[in-house]
Formats: sequence, C-alpha cells, structure tokens
Amino acid sequence: MAMPDPMSLIDIHSHLVPGVDDGARDVQAVLDSVQRMTRHGIRRIVTTPHIDGSLSLDPERLELRLDEVTSAWEYAAEAIGEHFPEVEFRRGHEVLLDVPNVSLTDPRMRLAGTSFVLVEWPRLQLPPGTVPVLQRIVDQGFRPVVAHPERYQGMGTSLHVAQRWREAGAYLQVNFGSLAGRFGSESQATAYRLLRRGWADYLASDFHGHARLKLYKSEAWAALEELGAEETLTYLSRTNPGRILSDEPPLPVPPLPVERGFWAKLRGMLQRTTA
Ligand SMILES: [Fe+2]
Repeated sequence: MAMPDPMSLIDIHSHLVPGVDDGARDVQAVLDSVQRMTRHGIRRIVTTPHIDGSLSLDPERLELRLDEVTSAWEYAAEAIGEHFPEVEFRRGHEVLLDVPNVSLTDPRMRLAGTSFVLVEWPRLQLPPGTVPVLQRIVDQGFRPVVAHPERYQGMGTSLHVAQRWREAGAYLQVNFGSLAGRFGSESQATAYRLLRRGWADYLASDFHGHARLKLYKSEAWAALEELGAEETLTYLSRTNPGRILSDEPPLPVPPLPVERGFWAKLRGMLQRTTA
C-alpha cells in the first residue's frame, strides 16, 4: 500500500464490507463505490458495517459475527489493493446502542482498532439515558463518536442533548447528505446549527454502496464553500478524521462563518421560521 497523500480526504463512516449489512452487496459494488470516492478526493476509508451492540454481550455469537465481517472485509481489501493501490481501506463498525452496556473490548468494534467507536441509537429515536450510556463508554477509556446526530427526532433547536453528549466526552459526526438536504429540512437545519456552533467534529459520507445512491460530498462541499468555510471543511474532513487514525482527539472546529448580504438575510429568515 502506498503512503497516504496528506492532502487526501478521510471518510470514517460507510457500509463497504460486502454482503454483511444493508450496504454494498458484493465486491464489484465496493470497487464501484471506492472509485466514486476517489474521484471526490477520498483516499483513506474506515468502513463501518452495522453491528448490534447487544451482540457484544454474547461472546460466542459476537465472535462468529466479527469473523464473518473480517473475512468479507479482507476479501474487499484485497480487491481494493489490486485496483486502487493508493487507497487505504480500514474498518470499524457502526455500533447500535440497543442495550446500555455494550462491550467494546474487541478492537474490531472500534474505528481502525483505535479508542474511537462510531455509535448510533435504534430507529433514529433517542431513548432516555443517552448521556449516561456515552459517559459509561468514556469511563471505560473509549471515545464515542455519535453518527449523524442531526438525523434524530427531537434534537430541537437548542441542541441541548448534543451539548450534554459533548460534555460527557462524545464527539459528533455529521453526514454530507444531511447538509445537502437528503434527509429533509429539519435534519439539514440541525446539521447547520451544529456547524455554526462548532459542535460537529467530523463530516462523513455514510455511503451505503449502491449505484443509485449519491455520495453528496460535492453538494455538501459546494454549500460550505459558498459560505467561505474552507477551513472548517479541512478540519471536518481531513484534520480530525486523520487524528482518529493516530488515536488523538479532534481539534476544535472553526464555527461556520457568519453570512453576510441579501441571501444570508433571506436564509436567516427562512431558518428562523423553521427553527
Ligand atoms: Fe451508517
């Protein structure tokens, strides 16, 4: 594998282990996805198939599942190495917090074997007690990264729960698609609110490896570049994801610059009415 280009982008959330979840179905779909990602400047990928956290409480079943994912990931990694030698292809999981006491001791549960772990709650709804669950993970020496916080129902405009997650030591990963409006106006508004406060630590694709799906990287970047947020983009897509790979906490992200001019006023009015 070639040394990664320091200017390349890093994606820490995707579903590109073939045939193990609702992501890429086979190796060809993985190769097609990687080709699309490289066209967008992404050269370092930590792919994150779904896993139910409750499985971690049953060591035998967990081992079977992790072995299955490992074989499929190795198969895909070999094909990627052959066709895209410039791409670094690592893996972790997107861990569903379907029980409050998930075990993260197996490094394959975590992002590229580091202390970081990508987590989500079932059905994009927030159960009671999300803060202590994250706190427990932090107390065990791991670093939880909450996947797409902007997509949860009930985030509200105050983002109070997101603030409490951050205070507990969790980090936040926003999806490209949310910024582009893929998940509706509420998720989009929440994504922008998080970025305006400097509370998002990472941007990622959450790409599911199907030909009909878009990556939304160009759309998200164009929108932020229009706001003059190039520095913010660098932190969210390069600096901080790179720090995951070296097992370091993210650096503070510059909040989105304040917009000026007619369109900014109009956008502000629209966001106030939807807030
Ligand atoms: Fe995902």
